[in-house]
Amino acid sequence: MPLIQLQPLAQQGWLTSCSTISFKITTLVLLVQPPIQLSESIMTHVVSESCIQCKYTDCVDVCPVDCFREGPNFLTIDPDECIDCAVCIPECPVNAIYAEEDLPADQQHMTQLNADLALLPGWKSITKRKAPLPTADEWKDKTGKLAELVR
Ligand code: F3S
Repeated sequence: MPLIQLQPLAQQGWLTSCSTISFKITTLVLLVQPPIQLSESIMTHVVSESCIQCKYTDCVDVCPVDCFREGPNFLTIDPDECIDCAVCIPECPVNAIYAEEDLPADQQHMTQLNADLALLPGWKSITKRKAPLPTADEWKDKTGKLAELVR
């Protein structure tokens, strides 16, 4: 703020000394700063292997930002869209969705896979629940399904 503009303020008693001016300007600068980022990494939610060959799609009905993308036999979460609200977690009948930080040790690879699949041009946004895959009940309790994933 130019000094010429500070003068009327000083006459009104708002600014009474150079140290007061410095304090007010510093305070103003701090107030207009963007919020401090506490973490450099951006967390997301992740669909684990449990979804493969099931695709129940209950999760998509509750997503407020439409971050699910659909593949032939799996749904992925676009990490650039997910707002980490967690409302999808209890909707999945096979508990396939985790907050990234809660992923089991044997599902850590799914974070990068979700991100990669979300970028595939054929994987379109899905926003409405539909019938699960015909194989869903047969596969819902199986583990180690990654080899079945169709891109
Ligand atoms: Fe998959 Fe569960 Fe959604 S099986 S499609 S993550 S409801």
